[in-house]
Amino acid sequence: VILTLTLNAALDITYDVDALVPRSTHRVRHTRQRAGGKGVNVASVLSRLGVPVTASGFLGGRTGVDISADLDARALPQAFFRCAGESRRTVNVVSAGDGDATIFNEPGPVITNGEWSALVDGIPELFVRSRAAVLVLSGSLPPGVPEDAFARLVALARDHGVTSVVDAGGAALRQAVGAHPDVVKPNLAELEASTGQVDAVIGAQELQRWGALDVVVSCGPDGAVVLPRDGGELRARLRKPLAGNPTGAGDAMVAALAAGLDREPAARGEGVSPAPRDGRSGAWDWSTAIRNAVAWSAAAVLQPLAGDVDPDDVTRLAAEVELEQR
Ligand SMILES: Nc1ncnc2c1ncn2[C@@H]1O[C@H](COP(=O)(O)OP(=O)(O)OP(=O)(O)O)[C@@H](O)[C@H]1O
Ligand SMILES: [Mg+2]
Repeated sequence: VILTLTLNAALDITYDVDALVPRSTHRVRHTRQRAGGKGVNVASVLSRLGVPVTASGFLGGRTGVDISADLDARALPQAFFRCAGESRRTVNVVSAGDGDATIFNEPGPVITNGEWSALVDGIPELFVRSRAAVLVLSGSLPPGVPEDAFARLVALARDHGVTSVVDAGGAALRQAVGAHPDVVKPNLAELEASTGQVDAVIGAQELQRWGALDVVVSCGPDGAVVLPRDGGELRARLRKPLAGNPTGAGDAMVAALAAGLDREPAARGEGVSPAPRDGRSGAWDWSTAIRNAVAWSAAAVLQPLAGDVDPDDVTRLAAEVELEQR
């Protein structure tokens, strides 16, 4: 089972207007709302593809209740920790004419020291209760959560035999890799924000020098580059990029990586300890893992909402992924 942790979960609200014009009043044609945040999107993709998952993180206030209700309505198993502050909303204003989206992201509730400690103390029990084999850490840290939060949680996961996947950038990623997460998946911008490197391979190698094991850099329409912990380089991409909505494509990629790790924990073996980079990574098959990851993420591009994929698209696209080993 995969456990996703979204420390800053959100209620994603979409307003459909004819055209967004600053300094004018708009008639909203249609309003939709749905539970969101990176880890919730990962859980949503996994659940859509029939992979057992539990969504966790912090929820608070009326908005927290709405997020929880949406997850229930979608039959998505959840185990959130409470916080006193109000969970955040994101507002996405979509213009009907050109489909342009303008997004407003609230910062999220301030998490107190006590709330953060309660989460850290409660996670081991949650690993057991949800029978977690893989922990996915993704999304922004709400105010009040220490910068080394992901590093702390990665270490906790390893202590309990749980494999970890981190999707982050900037300081959160720099901090996390010091704790040796099994897989990190920055996009190119996040990699640059953490390492200062614009080149995927050079940036990934820098993360490995700081302690990262397997590194997957997602490169938008250009697919992804994998630097496995034991050396080599693998690139995967579709022959032709797709037109659509790339928001949430990275989350679908993380979902695929986590699903692969959940299926083959025994083959991977060393997920439970920081393997030496010149070591063996068991029977772990990166070609299959990255083919699936590119297929799932491309399938997400074809869906208008983040957290959605069509299983038929996944199957069809997996056959179209081109691999290049170096
Ligand atoms: N236009 C596209 N056509 C095909 N595949 C795409 C396209 N855009 C993105 N992808 C796929 O999605 C993956 C993730 O995309 P990207 O690097 O943009 O992630 P991200 O910025 O982390 O996304 P997210 O919004 O979920 O955080 C890419 O590695 C690629 O496989
Ligand atoms: Mg991303």
